[in-house]
Amino acid sequence: MKITLSVIKADIGGYVGHSESHPDIIAKAAECLAKAKKDGLLIDCQATKCGDDLQLIMTHQKGTGSYEIHKLAWDTFVTGTELAKKMKLYGAGQDLLADAFSGNIRGMGPGVAEMEFEERPAEPVLIFMADKTAAGAWNMPLYKMFADPFNTIGLVIAANMHNGFTFEVHDVKEHKKTSLNAPDEIYDMLVLIGSPSRFVVKAVYHRDNGEIAAASSTERLHETAGKYVGKDDPVCIVRSQGIFPAVGEVLEPFAAPILVEGWMRGSHMGPLMPVSVPDSTPSRFDGPPRVICLGYQLCDGKLVGPRDMFADIAFDPARHQANEMADMMRRHGPFEPHRKPLEEMEYTTMPEVMAKLKGRFKDLD
Ligand code: F6R
Ligand code: MG
Ligand code: MG
Repeated sequence: MKITLSVIKADIGGYVGHSESHPDIIAKAAECLAKAKKDGLLIDCQATKCGDDLQLIMTHQKGTGSYEIHKLAWDTFVTGTELAKKMKLYGAGQDLLADAFSGNIRGMGPGVAEMEFEERPAEPVLIFMADKTAAGAWNMPLYKMFADPFNTIGLVIAANMHNGFTFEVHDVKEHKKTSLNAPDEIYDMLVLIGSPSRFVVKAVYHRDNGEIAAASSTERLHETAGKYVGKDDPVCIVRSQGIFPAVGEVLEPFAAPILVEGWMRGSHMGPLMPVSVPDSTPSRFDGPPRVICLGYQLCDGKLVGPRDMFADIAFDPARHQANEMADMMRRHGPFEPHRKPLEEMEYTTMPEVMAKLKGRFKDLD
């Protein structure tokens, strides 16, 4: 049975500030989705949150990029925004950049990760959702899952993964894409994806059969809007077990926290901390950036779950380490590498400061 799994998210209002989503907004979204399920558009659906982002998790048979599904998501965000405005939540409707839906939600503000596949006899899927960071945050975890044998021993000892995976990489600045094969092309690939503010892993495919293994959202809100409007706060879907990395291999990259862009005012580098859904409440310096993971078994498109995958004491050391990394980065205050390079910051006063100081700059001797 061919199933499409769509995860579409938007920040339509924060509670309090940018730290969390209000339960009434999630309930309202769940209501909109339930109606679409009753009407037969969706097979199954759940609404959840990661920090201030509302997350719509939907299964259906309409394929990726479906007008009806994207319209449902857009209408749900609009309905949620009305409620957010009524409650005077913070930044109500902040990610809805267009006045009206125009065919495909991509480029209109919300983030989208979708994949269509033939459901296997048992189909474990893992949905990662992050807050206070950007799409490139998945680059290293996806590389580790699908190309690094020190993370995924299956690449070495499981015959059905031994030929590796193909990575679809997007250049989000030049709006171009390419594909690179692991393991043979990893050095070339790392030149690109090691720079996650420009090159982003969009999808991963099994090399033997072309089966989709992972899909991420790559929207960059500030580039869509032409100015800072909020963080991209990405999502990513990963299929697991059998011909794909095991659940433990998929989760393992998050046991060693890395620094990602985002955090306060989208202008800093901070540790990506794996947390349970209830702990996705970025409050310290609006962070540190958080990642949650919901696991499901699909059953003819039904979402059997979720399991809150990072609600596991095995990730306690990662959380502890992330908090120590946060202290270390915070110590730098407005200095790099905590603060992002001048041209990368989402907020900047540089033009005004330079204008004010014009005339006070003298040539060097
Ligand atoms: C980062 C984020 C927050 C805000 C910050 C200032 O993604 O959402 O850190 O950038 O709280 O928010 P405003 O400008 O809305 O006061
Ligand atoms: Mg927000
Ligand atoms: Mg957010």
